[in-house]
Amino acid sequence: MHNAAFAALGLNWCYVACEVDPKNLRTAIAGAKAMGFSGLNLTVPHKLLAVDMMDVLDASAKKWGAVNTVHFTERGAVGYNTDADAVTTSLREDLKIKVRGARVLVLGAGGAGRTATLKLASERVAELFLVNRTRSKAETIAAEIEKHYPSVKISLGYPKGGVDLVLNATSLGLKPEDAAPLDLKQFKFKQTPAVYDMIYRPAETPFLHAARMAGCKTVNGLSMLLHQGAKAFEIWTGRAAPLPVMRRALEENVYGPVQS
Ligand code: ATR
Repeated sequence: MHNAAFAALGLNWCYVACEVDPKNLRTAIAGAKAMGFSGLNLTVPHKLLAVDMMDVLDASAKKWGAVNTVHFTERGAVGYNTDADAVTTSLREDLKIKVRGARVLVLGAGGAGRTATLKLASERVAELFLVNRTRSKAETIAAEIEKHYPSVKISLGYPKGGVDLVLNATSLGLKPEDAAPLDLKQFKFKQTPAVYDMIYRPAETPFLHAARMAGCKTVNGLSMLLHQGAKAFEIWTGRAAPLPVMRRALEENVYGPVQS
C-alpha cells in the first residue's frame, strides 16, 4: 500500500520489508538511520522493545507504550503509535459508528484487545463489556479503565440488553477449525447492529459471516491496517495519504487481484 501511494504521489520512495531478530533491533534502527531511511514501521515483537530505543517519543507512543512507526528527523528517531487511532478511525469510517457514548462488547483481552478497549475508553464510549477466556486479563484492563477513565462504565461478561457494536479482538477465526469467539447462548446477533472482526485473513471469518447473515453491518480488520499505514505515510511524507489507492493495493496484496 505504501509503494502504491508513493507512486500515486510521484514520490521516488520505496517501502521494503526486512525480518530483524529482536536482539538486533537497536543496530537495525541505527543502520536504517545511517542509510538515510525516512522512517520505519515495526511489528510484533518489536513495538514494545523499540520504546527504549527512540530519541524522542511522540505522545501517541507514550500513551500506548508501543512504537509502530519511526520517523528519522533532525531530532533523531521519533517514535509514534498509529495503531490505536486506526481502531476508532476504522469504526467511524467503515461502520459509521459514533464512538462517543456507544455501548461496546469487546471479545478478547490480549494485546489487540487491550489497545482497542483503552482507545474506546479514551474516546469516551458510554459502556464497555469485556469477555475473555482468561478472566484475569479482562480484569486487569477493567481496572486500568476504572483508574484512567472513570466516566466509562465497564463490566465483565455479556450484556443483558443491546449494544452498538461487537468487536472481536481474539485470534479465534484465523484458523478454519477455531471455535466462535462469541457464545451465542449468551448473546444474539440481534442485540447489535454492527460487528467488527479485527481478523482480516480470511476476509470473512465464520463469525463475521454469521453476523452478516443475521443482518448486522460487518467490517474486517483490513481497514485498521490501512489506517495505521495511512497515518504513518503522512508522518513520513508530510502529505495526505491517498486512501483509495492504498486500500486497493492492500486488498490486492492480501486477497489477490480484483477481477474486473
Ligand atoms: P494479539 O496481540 O493479536 O491480541 P494475544 O495477545 O495473543 O494476540 O491475544 C489473543 C486473544 O485471543 C486473547 O484474548 C486470547 O484469550 P486469552 O487471553 O485467554 O489467551 C484469545 N484466544 C486465543 N485463543 C483462544 C481460544 N482457543 N479460546 C478463546 N480465546 C482465545
